[in-house]
Amino acid sequence: MLSQTVLHRIKAASHVCVFTGAGMSAESGIPTFRERNEGLWAKHDPLEVATPEAYKKNPQLVWDWHVHLAEKVRKASPNAGHQAVAKLQALVPKVTVITQNVDNLHQDAGSCDVLELHGSLFRLTAFVDKNVMYSDERPPVICHLCKGYAVWEQCDHFADRSDLAELKLATGRVPRCPGCGALLRPDIVWFGEMLDPCVLEGAVDAADSCDVLICVGSSLEVEPAASLPYRALRRGAVVVEINPVPTALSATADASLIGKAGDILPGLLRQVWGIEIGR
Ligand code: APR
Repeated sequence: MLSQTVLHRIKAASHVCVFTGAGMSAESGIPTFRERNEGLWAKHDPLEVATPEAYKKNPQLVWDWHVHLAEKVRKASPNAGHQAVAKLQALVPKVTVITQNVDNLHQDAGSCDVLELHGSLFRLTAFVDKNVMYSDERPPVICHLCKGYAVWEQCDHFADRSDLAELKLATGRVPRCPGCGALLRPDIVWFGEMLDPCVLEGAVDAADSCDVLICVGSSLEVEPAASLPYRALRRGAVVVEINPVPTALSATADASLIGKAGDILPGLLRQVWGIEIGR
């Protein structure tokens, strides 16, 4: 599976970066976005359900789409691939997980300090324009009651987080802050929005400093995320790709492992460290 050179470079690595896309969670039952027929974008136009304009135009449609996805995610469990990534933390001095996924499955498998480039389905935030960089002249939206920075969890109106979970999914209604009535939204980066600059900075730093980057389950079609494996490659880090089909990265990666995350990642831990991960 891996050449001896790549195997030794992984084993000697002091910092491994794992960069993941929707394919990482495919074996957990969560659809990817661009796969023919089954992909989420084969069934919905992202411009109708995943942009701030769409939310302004039809908040209920956008909210319902996210609730539908969240219900699939709630039923999902981490697969052997997620478990293998989490296990890496015990084998490598430093592991940075950078994910484009919003399903929290890396965290559920035990991975720490996960950089969620595109946010999370499990956080709500006030419907503020993510493209606005706040300044003294333009302070962020403040919840009038608790003066929190309009990030739902910081509003102490909901002391009990279970209310939050209940509100998020069960009601299906477009959520509003009970304190100030502000329209809330999933804390997800929609098309046309900027990523959280702190998260992106952390991801770029990791890609610029890791010894090995393992790219799992991404079509590498969405920037700025897609540029991260190439940053590592240009620096001379070892780049390993795992995907059932080749991508634009495959030809230049140090290893392009054709297969599923839930098979290849446990196989990689077995080959490099002799560690077995359950299916
Ligand atoms: N294991 C590994 N890879 C897989 C598996 C699997 N079991 N099943 C599918 N894949 C691969 C597909 O071959 C494809 O290359 O996962 C990739 C999924 O690609 P996309 O659906 O485009 O998902 P992703 O690359 O994560 O999309 C990036 O686009 O729509 C936005 O915000 C959304 O985060 C998403 C971003």
